[in-house]
Amino acid sequence: MDKLVISGGRPLKGEISVSGAKNAILPLMAASLLTGGWHQFENVPQLRDIRTFCTLLESMGADIRCEEPLCINTDNVSRLEAPYDLVKTMRASVLVLGPMVARFKKARVSLPGGCAIGARPINLHIKGLEALGVNIELRHGYVEAKAKRLTGTHIYLDLVTVTGTENLMMAATLAEGTTVLENAAKEPEVVDLANYLKTLGAKIKGAGTPIITIEGVKELNTPSPYRVIPDRIEAGTLLVAAGITGGEITITNCIPAHLETVIHKLQETGMTFEIGENWVKAKSPEIISSADVKTLPFPGFPTDMQAQFMALMCLADGVSVITEQIFENRFMHVSELRRLGADISIDGRTAVVKGVKELLGAKVMATDLRASASLVLAGLAAKGTTEVSRVYHLDRGYDRLEKKLSALGANIVRVKE
Ligand code: EPZ
Repeated sequence: MDKLVISGGRPLKGEISVSGAKNAILPLMAASLLTGGWHQFENVPQLRDIRTFCTLLESMGADIRCEEPLCINTDNVSRLEAPYDLVKTMRASVLVLGPMVARFKKARVSLPGGCAIGARPINLHIKGLEALGVNIELRHGYVEAKAKRLTGTHIYLDLVTVTGTENLMMAATLAEGTTVLENAAKEPEVVDLANYLKTLGAKIKGAGTPIITIEGVKELNTPSPYRVIPDRIEAGTLLVAAGITGGEITITNCIPAHLETVIHKLQETGMTFEIGENWVKAKSPEIISSADVKTLPFPGFPTDMQAQFMALMCLADGVSVITEQIFENRFMHVSELRRLGADISIDGRTAVVKGVKELLGAKVMATDLRASASLVLAGLAAKGTTEVSRVYHLDRGYDRLEKKLSALGANIVRVKE
């Protein structure tokens, strides 16, 4: 296992390009199951989760070139199963369920099981597929799905679910008749998936709004190359890196509109911004002001930025109240931040962060993807050396983050544990 060794206290300066979005490319890869021919995706980051998804699709019989551009051909898919040993390492594997039942009318997908940040059930995925006419049985830890046909219907999602919306939208593209998804997720990654499906001939309206209408078609067209949107969470993480190190950086190849809420919240902490068409320049204040935040579905403050924002608030002048409203256990980074000298108390889903004058480097352990990003950010600001172990968590969702940070002047190296 690798660890990152960080010598903190250096303000980040310079310009860095943002990679493609993990949470956009994963549903796009699942969508390749909906129709044959070569699907070709550009701007694909090098991430562990993408390699895992490639392994899953190959195990089903797909032909894949897992590089840039990422090419997938599902003409020869024959094994309609997503096995436990893969799904347990990456819950986004459940995204193959919708497309598989839509095209092959059969699927056997392992239930994802628990996750560090919460139970994360998929009951709404299953309820929606049943509403479309899929017969589902839960047996031996697997979702066993089969259908004669899928019939469009009106589905109300009790909770806003990103991959639930994506699974059902994909399934509905090949259903007979029209499907309405009400209380749908509005994340940019949902919109990116809808845009790709439309290039395949799907008839989708309202992606990005709470009501998505899908008119089923008999089959989808041959794919054409598609460029994945930039990763708004990596972008937000880099903006926080500027703020926490007292630096000034420009991130390029991003979509500022996807960052509005994050930028507004960072402005509340005193950071200042210049915003271009596909770039954002961020400048840290002399003194970081505290700010409260509650995580919400898009366009609210993203839960995937909560841990990173908390790292910044550890050094703020004042007290900030951070409420995690999406997942029930997404404060795993708190005990590790405390090892660096942070003053944080937790009450259920609320963390109260009292800003301290400085953080002191220490050995800390990553527990999940965004927690590991939070520890790296804190290490960049801490006095002395911080070692972040188990960075395989980080590699799931960040493409060579240490190289990006080094290019901005950070003293950070990856070493074998
Ligand atoms: C997606 O996960 C993202 N992953 C997550 O990013 C992100 O944190 C999350 O959306 C929220 O924005 C991908 O897109 C691959 P949800 P997802 O379904 O779809 C509950 C990262 O760090 N729920 O929107 O699994 C669920 O438990 C990852 O990149 C049900 O109860 O999240 C949660 O409390 C982490 N039943 C809430 O809804 C269901 O059937 C939102 O979950 C589905 C969800």
